[in-house]
Amino acid sequence: MIYTVTLNPALDKTVEIPSLTVDSVNRITTMRTDPGGKGVNVSKVIQKLGGESTATGILGGGAGKAICSALEAMKIRTGFWFVEGETRTNLKVIDPVNHTNTDLNEPGVNVSEEILNGLLQELLLTVNEGDIVVLSGSLPKGAPKDTYATWVKACKKAGAKVILDADGELLAEGLKASPYLIKPNNHELSALMGEKLGTPEELKEAALDLMKKYDIAKIVISMGGEGALYITEEETLYAEGLKVPVKSTVGAGDSVVAALAISEESGKSIEDTVRLSTATGAANVMCSGTQAAEYDVIKNLIPKVVFRKL
Ligand SMILES: Nc1ncnc2c1ncn2[C@@H]1O[C@H](COP(=O)(O)OP(=O)(O)OP(=O)(O)O)[C@@H](O)[C@H]1O
Ligand SMILES: [Mg+2]
Repeated sequence: MIYTVTLNPALDKTVEIPSLTVDSVNRITTMRTDPGGKGVNVSKVIQKLGGESTATGILGGGAGKAICSALEAMKIRTGFWFVEGETRTNLKVIDPVNHTNTDLNEPGVNVSEEILNGLLQELLLTVNEGDIVVLSGSLPKGAPKDTYATWVKACKKAGAKVILDADGELLAEGLKASPYLIKPNNHELSALMGEKLGTPEELKEAALDLMKKYDIAKIVISMGGEGALYITEEETLYAEGLKVPVKSTVGAGDSVVAALAISEESGKSIEDTVRLSTATGAANVMCSGTQAAEYDVIKNLIPKVVFRKL
């Protein structure tokens, strides 16, 4: 089983307002809401890929309930903890006339260490040897910076393979507990290493250093439209980005993480993993917002993926 953990989810509300004007009354022409937050996005993509996952994390209030029921309507198993307060609603205002994107993000809930620990202990009751736990995204207010390190350590002890997709301090701290796989993008890896890593060769060297230093089995470095690097101790593959019409790159990384989790669970070869993740990432940038792409679109892109050894 794959578990996704979203400690700071959000209800993504996307509206269109032609010619948005501040200090004035604006009319919304179209509107949609999607359950969001990185782990939640991963669960949505796993579902489209024909896999199963349980989405867990922390929710609160009406927005929390809306996220939970939307996931259940998608037949995604949920195991969220409900706490006091209101889960963030992140409002994205798209202006198709002026071609602007404006985000208005709510602060979200506050959590205590007791809540975090309670959720972790509950997860550990169900996690078994060979399961995959995906930890991704930001942390809510009140969560210590080393939360991911604590969770990685505990899930590994329960026999799970942990995939960590976080950035900044959360990644730096989480690494110390030796997750199985991390998926930074090139900017996140550069920030972590404290130097600008431009070429695939530079990124590969940095990843190999990290793998040795922190005992990490696999690192996937995504590079937006430039594709991604798949690095294990034995080999590195560089997959080119697919040329597709881009609608929204939000959540592209989450789609890659979903494909990596599924590939890991089904024991795919590194080559098939590269094919599936590249196609899934590209298919998702063809969709608006964090809407997950349909499997038919992904399937058609798989034969187009080009990669080589580095
Ligand atoms: N413009 C694009 N064209 C084609 N494929 C893309 C494009 N942008 C992203 N992708 C695909 O999605 C993958 C992940 O993208 P990216 O590196 O932007 O992730 P990210 O920065 O972690 O995104 P996020 O955290 O917002 O989900 C890339 O490796 C690539 O396969
Ligand atoms: Mg990312």
